[in-house]
Amino acid sequence: MTALAIRNGHLIDPAAGVDTAKDILLKDGRVAEIAGPGKLKHAEGAEVIDAAGLTVAPGLIDIHVHLREPGQGYKETIATGTAAAAAGGFTAVAAMPNTTPVNDSPEITRWMQSPERGAQVRVFPIGAATRGSKGETLNDFAALKAAGAVAVSDDGQPILKDGVMRESLAAAARVGLAVIQHAEDTRMAQGASMNLGPASFRLGLRGMPPEAESSLVERDIRLVSELRDAHPHLHVAHASTAAAVAAVRQARRNGLRVTCEVAPHHFLLTEEHVGLYNTHAKMNPPLRSAADRDAMIEGILDGVVDAIATDHAPHAPHEKEVEFEHAPNGITGLETALGLCLRWLHKEWRLPLGRVLSLLSAQPAALLNLKGRGTLAVGSYADVVIFDPKAEWVYRVAETKSKARNTLFDGWTMQGKVRWTICEGRVAYTNPA
Ligand code: DOR
Ligand code: ZN
Repeated sequence: MTALAIRNGHLIDPAAGVDTAKDILLKDGRVAEIAGPGKLKHAEGAEVIDAAGLTVAPGLIDIHVHLREPGQGYKETIATGTAAAAAGGFTAVAAMPNTTPVNDSPEITRWMQSPERGAQVRVFPIGAATRGSKGETLNDFAALKAAGAVAVSDDGQPILKDGVMRESLAAAARVGLAVIQHAEDTRMAQGASMNLGPASFRLGLRGMPPEAESSLVERDIRLVSELRDAHPHLHVAHASTAAAVAAVRQARRNGLRVTCEVAPHHFLLTEEHVGLYNTHAKMNPPLRSAADRDAMIEGILDGVVDAIATDHAPHAPHEKEVEFEHAPNGITGLETALGLCLRWLHKEWRLPLGRVLSLLSAQPAALLNLKGRGTLAVGSYADVVIFDPKAEWVYRVAETKSKARNTLFDGWTMQGKVRWTICEGRVAYTNPA
């Protein structure tokens, strides 16, 4: 593998406490050297990237994506989903197991990581917590972990039974994995296709009460508390309600290992974006009230939110071009996450750039225990994003690398243009100015 020298850039590596002008040398897939501008000692013969005026940061890590393989390659493939990831500055993604069949085995977990899938960035499978994600029988977490799974989850299918969730938390703790819960008490959400509120009344659609989310988060936290001595790690996927974030905040005060992620659509959009039955605004959890949206922003700014994750959920155009009630849930997100976070969290709400990047890289890496990622300290994986922090641009979904088009951000102005995405020393995406 050739060596790559990134010169004249501004390095921001929150995990290492670095925010200054630095040159970086990448060699054999790792960070080999970091030095002041022009001071690399071992860079002779290396290919050079001129990063003048650009920010150099650890590659972004999305801990919640749906890559649809095996079995639903018409929506997305591992190759196309990871190409979109690379274009968005992501060097690693954690793939949810709601594939066909469900990823509840070491065989599928290994299949997803094999070179034949053509992944452009690192794929970390998340194994199903229960057989077929049916919420009844636990899978073999040790075997899933040995095959490369970085967490367990039945995402899309909440684990409702107290006993099964308790066993999942205990078994996952024994092998050092987090249980990622899609918190939705489906008994309270039967037939719902959007948030319960004024917009659902107006549109005549059945609504999902926010309590369907928060009551399950509260139940899960109670289980974590009961199992306290076993040190379980509960991670709340795509938190969307003020009450859920408040419950996580309280659990943390009580010293419990409870973490959560928020998706860009939940800190930017509300139920009003459903408009007149726009199926691109249908996802689960649904877009909520303005008060809930504000609580997501507050949680991000005050630090209770541990990660920004996209819940990239590609669907084929024909699947979204149906009546609202019949459309599948989901919105894509890999190409828009950084641009939206910089435009809104950083520029508008003044979250320091280092903290935005930490939510998109160092903290997700820590959450899933991804060793050697989320930082560019010497010896780490050579996972790098290089972007122009000042550039404004307009997202055009017609140019997407994903197979899917189901976004609400087409035509939105983004801040921060990705110029290079480098995964383990290999250029996975480039778009020089
Ligand atoms: O919006 C969603 N899309 N929510 C889910 O829980 C599942 C996901 C998907 O797989 O499409
Ligand atoms: Zn989910």
